[in-house]
Amino acid sequence: MTAPLWTLDDLVAATGGRVAGVPSAEIGGISIDSRTISPGDAFFAIQGDARDGHDFVESALARGAGACVVAEEKLGALPEGGRYVVVDDVFEALRRLARAARARTGARIVAVTGSVGKTSTKEALRHVLSDQGRTHASVASYNNHWGVPLTLARMPADCAFGIFEIGMNHAGEIAPLTALVRPHVAVVTTVAPVHLEFFRDVEAIAEAKAEIFDGLEPGGVAVVDGDVPQAGILIDAAAAKGARVVRFGIGEGLEAHLVRASLQADNSTVMATILGDAITYKIGAPGRHVVKNSLAVLATAVSVGADLARAGLALAAMTPPKGRGERHTLRLGHGEATLIDESYNANPASMRAAIDLLGHAPVGLEGRRIAVLGDMLELGSQGEALHASLAEALVAARVDRVFLAGPLMHALWRALSTDMQGAWAPTAAELEPKLLAAIRPGDALMIKGSNGSRMGPVVEALKSRFSSTRALAEDV
Ligand SMILES: Nc1ncnc2c1ncn2[C@@H]1O[C@H](COP(=O)(O)OP(=O)(O)OP(=O)(O)O)[C@@H](O)[C@H]1O
Ligand SMILES: [Mg+2]
Repeated sequence: MTAPLWTLDDLVAATGGRVAGVPSAEIGGISIDSRTISPGDAFFAIQGDARDGHDFVESALARGAGACVVAEEKLGALPEGGRYVVVDDVFEALRRLARAARARTGARIVAVTGSVGKTSTKEALRHVLSDQGRTHASVASYNNHWGVPLTLARMPADCAFGIFEIGMNHAGEIAPLTALVRPHVAVVTTVAPVHLEFFRDVEAIAEAKAEIFDGLEPGGVAVVDGDVPQAGILIDAAAAKGARVVRFGIGEGLEAHLVRASLQADNSTVMATILGDAITYKIGAPGRHVVKNSLAVLATAVSVGADLARAGLALAAMTPPKGRGERHTLRLGHGEATLIDESYNANPASMRAAIDLLGHAPVGLEGRRIAVLGDMLELGSQGEALHASLAEALVAARVDRVFLAGPLMHALWRALSTDMQGAWAPTAAELEPKLLAAIRPGDALMIKGSNGSRMGPVVEALKSRFSSTRALAEDV
């Protein structure tokens, strides 16, 4: 029998709570959402942005929660005869359990932050390290003040590797999270103008990302993008914490250095030098940015004691995470078109990466490369200029037609030559019929926009209208 995630005794001791009623002696999982409770899980009734978890205790109990971690002050209003661990502050109890999970494990711990590529890098690390030892990693983008402690609290004691995504929209948000995670290796995937409306400039973003090094264990390793102009800020901050710095990128002399990459439509072949060792490997997902991330992945794998050659081999079986370059074949009746689903979020860096990806997609005889783009949000006063500046990237990627949705994308519309202008509409929903009517056999389409621009439903509309087959996918 496998050991439970937590014994009740350990959970009570870690959270500083007291038992009321008869909770299960063994706790199989941790949840903060009553809809995801499996029998035997502990439900933490935390106060969310809109709702109080205590309102869902009854349904958590009905779903078989082994224990509900609840606030002393709310106990009186909760169902009698429930299975409770009663604490002073439920959120703090979750953080205490997170600290206990970190304290009890012998796993090598990785924390991943960066302006883009956190989830992609975290999932690639999960993929690579799972092959070499029991690996625990964040679900989806669980990278904030509740996602990080939740992921820690869910970490089984006997893991060999733990991988944590850490995100931020504002300065000061990473510091308390990295203090919980206490990574052996801290990765900054890159620094780019994202959430710019909350920052003075990109240098300020680099400073905020560098908070991740505050939590590094003594003798820890900082893996940083060595190609960005702000690399010095990251390197200095890491060195100030006594970290060993590993820079990755295309620049000469970097510790994890790209020698050569051959980019194909659905994979890449890479030659690199990783901490002194030459390696050639294949990546089962396309894109220059994926190649770049792979350097961080391999440098990190080596830094947590994994075998480099095995890690490199594992990358061949990697697939793009959902909405980050998945390919679908659209059946048009009299032919096929390719849909590249990049609908998971957008900022200038990931937009350029996706446009580059479209540039490498093959098109049929009569086919065209079509970019379907929605507004990139949270860019502040530079928004219009950052949208207009994509015109150059679209030309460089030999994109034939551009379909645009949203007020900010109108700035790009005005910057395009008329032969590239497909259609513009104020919203994604209004753009959808124009796009559906325009698709021809042989076309390759790439769809991208910030989550708030609602480009995801356009992908769904295309897939249902032209019964698609999913080429590569993985749900994260
Ligand atoms: N190194 C990179 N440079 C540019 N774009 C990238 C890079 N890595 C991934 N991307 C692209 O950026 C988008 C977001 O990727 P991903 O989900 O990995 O980022 P994230 O940092 O986790 O985002 P979030 O802050 O929303 O959690 C995807 O379109 C992905 O393909
Ligand atoms: Mg993410």
